[in-house]
Parts: sequence; C-alpha cells; structure tokens
Amino acid sequence: MSNKINELSEEIRSYQVTNDDQLEQFRLKFIGRKNVIADLFAEMKNIPNDQKKAFGQEVNTLKNIAQEKFQELIESLKSGGEEEAADLDLTLPPSVDQFGSIHPLTATRQRFIQIFERIGFNVSSGPEIEDDWHNFTALNFPPNHPAREMQDTFFIEKNPDIALRTHTSSVQIRVLENEKPPIRTLSPGRVYRNEAISARAHCIFHQMEGLYVDEGVSFADLKQTLYHFVKEMFNEGTKIRFRPSYFPFTEPSAEIDISCQICGGKGCNICKGTGWVEIGGSGMVDPNVLENCGIDSKKYSGFAFGMGIERIAMLKYQIKDLRLFTENDIRFLKQFNAL
Ligand code: DAH
Repeated sequence: MSNKINELSEEIRSYQVTNDDQLEQFRLKFIGRKNVIADLFAEMKNIPNDQKKAFGQEVNTLKNIAQEKFQELIESLKSGGEEEAADLDLTLPPSVDQFGSIHPLTATRQRFIQIFERIGFNVSSGPEIEDDWHNFTALNFPPNHPAREMQDTFFIEKNPDIALRTHTSSVQIRVLENEKPPIRTLSPGRVYRNEAISARAHCIFHQMEGLYVDEGVSFADLKQTLYHFVKEMFNEGTKIRFRPSYFPFTEPSAEIDISCQICGGKGCNICKGTGWVEIGGSGMVDPNVLENCGIDSKKYSGFAFGMGIERIAMLKYQIKDLRLFTENDIRFLKQFNAL
C-alpha cells in the first residue's frame, strides 16, 4: 500500500498547471468529493489491525500535501495572471466601449414629467391589473354602458371584476380616494387593449394621465396648461386646438389636437391632409367622479387629460411605425444615443 501512497505523493508534488481546467482536474482527482485519497481511507478496513495506525497517518499526510499543493497551484495561476497584467500597455488608446442609450419612450416620459414638475405636478402610480371600480365604475362608466366597449378590455377569465387596465385614468381614482385637494399629479404607465397590432396600434402601450383638482379650476386652466406643455414638448410654434368629445369621466370633454409636426400644418399624409394630429383626450373632471371618491364637488373642480406616450414620441422623433418601440432593433435604438 505504501507504494501507492508514495506514487500519489510523487504525482502531487510534481503537478504543474497553466490554466483553470488543469487546476480543476487536480481538484477533482485529489480534493473533490470522490478523490483518490478518500478511496485510500476506504481501504482502511482491509488493513491488518496492527498496521491501521501507521496507514492512517500516511494517508493523512498525503491529504495535507494535496491540500497545500492545491493552494500553491491556485497562487501560481494568479501570479501568472499578474505577469500578464504587467505586459499591459497603459499608453495605448482605450478600446471604445459600447454605451446603451435611453429608450425613446423613456426619454419622452421623462421630458413630460420634467415639464409638469416645473408647474407643481408630482407623479403617481397604480397597478396594471385593476378592478372594475377603478378602471370603470368610479370613472362614471355605468355597468353595461356602451362606453365600456370603446376600450377593448382584457378581462381575467375567471373573474370579470378584474382586468388589465385599459387606461391610466384608473390612477386618478386611486389618487382622489387617498389624497386631499389641491392635487396636481401625473400618472405614467403601461395600459392594455385587445387591439390588432399595426403601425398605429398595439395591445400594450403607454399613457400619461394628468389631473389637477383644487378650488376654482376652470377650462381656461386646462387649455393654458396644455398649451404650455405642447410648446415645451415640441416647439414654440406648435398650435393646439380642442375638439368637443365625450368621455364618461369628464364634462365637458375635448380631444386635443396639435399642428402636424411633420408638415407644420400645411397638410401631409401623416395628418391626412388636415394639418392637425390628435394627441389625447381631456376635460373637466365630472362631479360624479369627485363624489365617488369622497371629494365635495361643490367646493372643488378639476381638469384631467390622457395622452399616448407612443403617439407623442412618434410625433417628436418622426417615427412612422409604433412596433419599432418594442422590437429591440439595435439599428433603431442607436439613433437615440444623444437623448
Ligand atoms: N382615458 C382616456 C382614454 O384612454 C383618455 C382620457 C381622456 C383621459 C380624457 C383623461 C381625460 O383624463 O380627461 O381614451
């Protein structure tokens, strides 16, 4: 048996490694769970009693040698690496790192928030999986009202009370329920609708909701605030117009159009020759909505608006296909390096 121990001892002592794989081979053979030294310990039962003690000591010594050698080998690999590092020429020009860039939707959202923060708005958020109360009922959509059909909703099959939110207006309710006026808040977020995916529509997109509730808030405040916004977001020359519309949660309601950013209002195929493009909806918060949330509608009034962040980004950066935002095509994303 001693011969075997001597052989192994010799093998260990003369072992050399130049890379991690060889180190791993050493570890598996002499240190790992099923190593050859452990096999020797298992032989113990076949050794005559009077030799057991001496055998045990020899195997133990071998085990210590293997462990010391293992540490030595680790060190030798490390210092090899240091020699390599010494070859590094720090005067060479650096290799060019590839930096990522801010996604155009993120940049648009951040700019949106920046503009409104300067006029006293904060940011609120709510869940993307919503209940009927926050997504519809509290927003003055009566049960079975046809307005619910305007938003092709993804319901949770087993519980029609729960849906993927169809708009960020649900966050209005959460804020109105939990805070006292004056309220000035923006709610950005992802929304879901059962729509066929095309260059202009997606089943997942982003909205920015705005809400201002205080004493004496009027439609003039709504107009002026949004006018300020579009000039900041696009440019000084941008015009705005309001078209009467209907939303259950605002009265009166208006669609917001801006002068086409592509043709400057002259008429092109983006604005379908009209010179105007729609960017969202708005209106004076319906008193029923305030009352649903425990806010006295005799004392307080407010305005609200909702816009598609994709739509704003498409106009701002002249992007013609909404699907580009989610395709992760590096050639598309790279163009926004400067944002
Ligand atoms: N929630 C509406 C939608 O998704 C957009 C909207 C319109 C939001 C008018 C508002 C508003 O806050 O006042 O179509």
